[in-house]
Amino acid sequence: MTTQQSLNRAKYKSILPIALACVLMLGTARLVFDNLKSIRETIFGHWQFWLRGTGFHRYIINSFDDDDNSYEDIEDCNVFDGKWVWDNESHPFYNEESCPFLVKQVTCQRNGRPDNFYQFWRWQPNECNLPRFSAVKLLRILRNKRLMFVGDSIQRGQFDSMVCMLQSAIPDGKKSLDKVPSKKIFYAQEYNATIEFYWAPFIVESNSDHSTNHTVIKRLVKLDRIAHHSENWQGVDYLVFETYVWWMYKPIINVTYGNLKDVHEYNVTTAYKMALQTWANWLDSSINSQTQKVFFMSLSPTHLWSSEWNPGSDGNCFNEKEPIHGPYWGMGTSLEIMKIVQETLQELKIDVTFMNITQLSDFRKDAHTTIYTERKGKLLTKEQKSDPTNFADCIHWCLPGVPDTWNHILYANLLQEFYN
Ligand SMILES: *[C@@H]1O[C@H](CO)[C@@H](O)[C@H](O)[C@H]1NC(C)=O
Ligand SMILES: *[C@@H]1O[C@H](CO)[C@@H](O)[C@H](O)[C@H]1NC(C)=O
Ligand SMILES: *[C@@H]1O[C@H](CO)[C@@H](O)[C@H](O)[C@H]1NC(C)=O
Ligand SMILES: *[C@@H]1O[C@H](CO)[C@@H](O)[C@H](O)[C@H]1NC(C)=O
Ligand SMILES: *[C@@H]1O[C@H](CO)[C@@H](O)[C@H](O)[C@H]1NC(C)=O
Ligand SMILES: *[C@@H]1O[C@H](CO)[C@@H](O)[C@H](O)[C@H]1NC(C)=O
Repeated sequence: MTTQQSLNRAKYKSILPIALACVLMLGTARLVFDNLKSIRETIFGHWQFWLRGTGFHRYIINSFDDDDNSYEDIEDCNVFDGKWVWDNESHPFYNEESCPFLVKQVTCQRNGRPDNFYQFWRWQPNECNLPRFSAVKLLRILRNKRLMFVGDSIQRGQFDSMVCMLQSAIPDGKKSLDKVPSKKIFYAQEYNATIEFYWAPFIVESNSDHSTNHTVIKRLVKLDRIAHHSENWQGVDYLVFETYVWWMYKPIINVTYGNLKDVHEYNVTTAYKMALQTWANWLDSSINSQTQKVFFMSLSPTHLWSSEWNPGSDGNCFNEKEPIHGPYWGMGTSLEIMKIVQETLQELKIDVTFMNITQLSDFRKDAHTTIYTERKGKLLTKEQKSDPTNFADCIHWCLPGVPDTWNHILYANLLQEFYN
């Protein structure tokens, strides 16, 4: 198939996002490719160039002996460069039954998914090993501390994953999960450790900031406003940020900058860059590098069109049972956004750790919730389930699943910092 044919095919398939509009009402964006060609040019235009980038941020992750605090340096290891290997001994870290805090949106097994292979893949970096995950060690690191995830429903999935990874090490009655507007708060009493999720789908302020009533098609982002959110981030020990899918609705987006009555349509890339700059300014003026640590999650990829990994096919991520092995970079995975993040982080005065999970997640076409999920608070009906073309969610991830690996890598970073 030629590029032009696949473009036409993808364009034709843009009926799919009509159904996805409902998905976004649950807290994510529909990725509409109304004008696919122009998005491709303006947003994804330079992808090949960026694929060739060699990675500006190298990670030194140590492997730790589980029983003591000694560790071995694995010099100069990029943990994001690697492959998925079958490992049904160490994975998953937990299961649906063992974690009472999982929400219906992500419990794919309970929702009827027939295969469970997606739970058994372990991320294996090429140059080193990730330290074995230990919930107790992580709880010790988090003693008297707050860890907060800030972002959209993808980020909420990472929060849910983290809660499940930790909670088994805490006896009943010594842990709690509370919801207060804009936040979910998990508390481990014996450690006085708090894990939080804070809803801010654009990081900066927007008309989608209501924690539950954000069924906003006409989104409006206030590029220079962040204070309503950031006052909730003040003094948090570990902050983990993420923002992507909500921007990717159309190639242009309504924004304000300054006067709130003055609404403009901006290119998404321009708007995204300005929003991140507002965030960066807040970080530089408010973060104390001695006591606080900041992470930024790179974008979480989607798998809307199977023709991208299986030329000639006509579906989406539904019924995919295996990761992609070998080189792959999805069309919906914007290298231009990746570049903006990279540039913004490089210019910061403080250190922010870039969690480059995009490529490893892009391989996981098999791990989305598809039809085994809910929409507007209800599990899909039989009729909806029989129509995966329109109803499969290829944005969110099943749990246990891919977000556990993001947290495993986050853990590796926290562990390294703790022992240094
Ligand atoms: C992130 O990973 C991708 C793919 O592995 C790579 O091309 C890119 O250069 C990395 N970005 C950064 C900022 O390290
Ligand atoms: C683990 O996977 C191997 C290879 O597929 C399989 O033979 C074995 O039965 C599996 N073990 C468990 C406990 O599922
Ligand atoms: C409990 O943790 C919070 C931070 O989450 C901290 O401010 C407080 O001092 C801690 N309490 C004790 C008794 O250490
Ligand atoms: C949700 O927000 C919309 C627009 O702001 C408003 O019209 C509607 O009444 C709200 N619904 C609820 C249940 O609060
Ligand atoms: C921006 O807002 C105007 C007025 O509500 C609307 O007509 C237009 O479609 C919006 N543009 C986008 C990109 O959403
Ligand atoms: C938006 O993108 C178009 C096409 O790439 C460009 O001509 C225009 O200057 C951009 N506008 C803004 C505000 O960045």
